[in-house]
Amino acid sequence: MSTFIIKGEKPLYGEVTLAGAKNAVSKMMVASLLTDEPCILENFPSIGDVEIIVELLECIGSKIEIAGGTAQIHTPIIKNSRVTELSRRNRIPILALGPLLARTGEAEVPILGGDQIGPRPVDIHLEALERLGASIATTKTGYYAKTDGLHGADIELRFPSVGATENAILTAVLAKGKTTIKNAALEPEIMGLIMMLQKMGAIIELAPPRTITIEGVEKLRGVTHRILPDRNEAISFACLALGTNGKILVKGAVQEHLITFLNSVRRMGASYEVMDDGILFSRGQGPLKAIHIMTDTHPGFMTDWQQPLAAVLTQAEGVSTIHETIYEDRFGYMKDLVAMGAKMNVEKNCPEDKPCRFGGKEFSHFATIIGPTELHSAKLTVRDLRSGMLDIVAALMAKGVSEVDGVEEIDRGYERIDERLQNLGAEISRKG
Ligand code: EPU
Repeated sequence: MSTFIIKGEKPLYGEVTLAGAKNAVSKMMVASLLTDEPCILENFPSIGDVEIIVELLECIGSKIEIAGGTAQIHTPIIKNSRVTELSRRNRIPILALGPLLARTGEAEVPILGGDQIGPRPVDIHLEALERLGASIATTKTGYYAKTDGLHGADIELRFPSVGATENAILTAVLAKGKTTIKNAALEPEIMGLIMMLQKMGAIIELAPPRTITIEGVEKLRGVTHRILPDRNEAISFACLALGTNGKILVKGAVQEHLITFLNSVRRMGASYEVMDDGILFSRGQGPLKAIHIMTDTHPGFMTDWQQPLAAVLTQAEGVSTIHETIYEDRFGYMKDLVAMGAKMNVEKNCPEDKPCRFGGKEFSHFATIIGPTELHSAKLTVRDLRSGMLDIVAALMAKGVSEVDGVEEIDRGYERIDERLQNLGAEISRKG
């Protein structure tokens, strides 16, 4: 297990360029299985999650070359459509079921891993695949699927799940006939996937409200596609600028992907400037003000943004609130912030005027942070990717030297984070 040693209280200054989006790259890698021609992905990030999908695709028979931020993936034939084990786990292998079914009629993938932030069932994925003509069995080691032929279907998702929407799209593009996905998720990463598939020859229409219509085609071709910049990296660097009272130009940040976050920055009294090549973030004049956040599916305030921002909210004057409505258990990080001196509390009840689907259940999903409080150093252990980023932000804000253990979890989604933070003036080193 590696550890970051972090000396805090130093404002971060400079420029940083965003890597390709973690939550897009892995799905695009899986999409390459839909064709027997080579697919080239540019702005290809070097992160742990990608290594897991490289292993998955190589088991299936893909040839993969990665050099200078570009990956070429070529799967002329599916050598093995039943992958029962991988050395590490994440949320992605289940997305390979559709492409494998389309090419061989049979597929197996191992059970999923990923962050422990709630139960994270895959019932909506499986229902969508079954409607598209797959029969699926959950085995001890994963999911086994077969089909006599994928066909179009009308699908209404009971929740706009990102993964289930992607799974339905990846399965429908080569299915016979027309598919309609209602109540679909429309995150920028899903738009990126749709654009890649359209370049490959897929026919996909979008219509309000949250409807995706797909006309299945017989064959898809190879593609060269640039992966969109990572909006979670963008807000992490923004929080570092605000939290350390520095100034950071986040190159590649796309305003359209960050609209709700930028509104929150403005409400806090902090500053952003949208420029041609990115967005410049700083704390601005005057003290930070408390704000109220409710996480939601896109275009709402993203659940992956609330953790780094919580560190910043410890410095805001007044009572800030974070109402988490996507995951049942996303405040495990409270222990870390409180250990560093924050005044934070999490409760099960929703605010009276804003009930959510977790209301009346046993999930601690509504947090209150009272600020400002001085943060001091602590010894922390990373519990999941985004709260790992919160640990880094808080440690860089805090008085003294902190230790953050288990940083491999952060490497899963942030490219060379220690090196890029050093370039912004951070005193951070890696041990082990
Ligand atoms: N859900 C179900 N049944 C399903 C699928 C989802 O009940 O079949 C529930 C989940 O349990 C959760 C909610 O729906 O409570 C949202 O899940 P969703 O399927 O939308 O999320 P995901 O596809 O598993 C992706 C990102 C997450 C991000 C969410 C929401 C990837 C690899 N992961 O997860 O990213 O938080 O969408 O935007 O794309 C992260 O990067 O740290 C991360 C957790």
